[in-house]
Amino acid sequence: MPDTRSFERPGLRDIAGYVPGEQPAGGVKLNTNENPYPPPPAVAETLARFPVERLRRYPPAAGDPFRTAAAHLHGVDPNEIVATNGGDELLRLALATYVDPGEAVAIAPPTYSLYKVLIRLHGARPVELPLTEGWETPDGFVDALDRSGARLAFFVNPHAPSGRLFERGAVEAIAAGFDGVLLVDEAYVDFVDPAHGYDLVPAIREHPNLLVLRTLSKGYSLAGLRFGYGIGSAPLLEPMQTKTKDSYNVDALAAEIARAAIESRTWAADNWATVRTERERLRAGLARLGLPTLPSETNFVLATVPPDALARCPDDRGVGTAANALYLALKARDVHVRWFGETRLADRLRITVGTPEENDRLLAVLADLLSPAPAH
Ligand SMILES: Cc1ncc(COP(=O)(O)O)c(C=O)c1O
Repeated sequence: MPDTRSFERPGLRDIAGYVPGEQPAGGVKLNTNENPYPPPPAVAETLARFPVERLRRYPPAAGDPFRTAAAHLHGVDPNEIVATNGGDELLRLALATYVDPGEAVAIAPPTYSLYKVLIRLHGARPVELPLTEGWETPDGFVDALDRSGARLAFFVNPHAPSGRLFERGAVEAIAAGFDGVLLVDEAYVDFVDPAHGYDLVPAIREHPNLLVLRTLSKGYSLAGLRFGYGIGSAPLLEPMQTKTKDSYNVDALAAEIARAAIESRTWAADNWATVRTERERLRAGLARLGLPTLPSETNFVLATVPPDALARCPDDRGVGTAANALYLALKARDVHVRWFGETRLADRLRITVGTPEENDRLLAVLADLLSPAPAH
């Protein structure tokens, strides 16, 4: 008989893990908000030039020289940057640094579903302050947040999965009225139209409780590298730098590649502009097919699938919502988008903006799937 004892700690048994998007080998992949364009050329050059001999030694503990380059990019001090193994590591570090097990951590659902999983894994208590139907913070949000007693709040901006952008003033008002750490997850900020003039980073000077999350996964096409960083006041970051992060949490090669990438910002910015143009073309195409989307400042759109689409969708397997049926029908045709079986999202599809060819393919398959049934 095999030994089937479980050594999982009891507190972990009832916690469902985060379910990442699928990683199909081929097809049109519009399900995990990756950048459709390659990383900047400087990334390949850095890889080719990297002296393998350096891997014999431990890397610089704080991820330098990346940290210096990021400080330069944002006009802050290197002590106001913490380099992390993907943006996701910063979420974990924020919990480990600012929250004791049992304490409250606030989220504003619908939001990035990893937050709640990590809060539970930490033994902390998620407090939910839902956004309104219009994806706004409800009246009295800041007071409610402060009264919740949360030590930390995760707030994503631009918002995922709706794509909307909260103005800097609105985010600062949350930081000002909240007596805990406000982590503003800016995973998608690179795709915001520069016309908005949105830049929250200077606000770290006024708000010592503000921690801004950035990642190279989206804007710099480096999801496979696992590199992100936090920006915040030096005293806020200090216990993270000296206590909670692993001694060598980012490796020497990743830090060099990440530095080369952010130093190629102008190159990357051309891609962001292309993504913005495609985003609007995709939204228009989806609207023509009866799938309305919200305005988005990210590299994805959230499309509503009206109930009548179910009747128009040949692959309905009686699974429930039209959006789920459409998701499955697209998948069967090797076009991958994301469906979340959650409150307020079950009738939507989240679709990453791909290359023009990928977007055309998605629209063509959708047009085929949703064509009105021939009259008999
Ligand atoms: C809202 C949000 N935050 C953070 C991340 C983390 O990204 P990464 O860990 O790849 O840097 C993601 C990735 O999908 C995301 O969607």
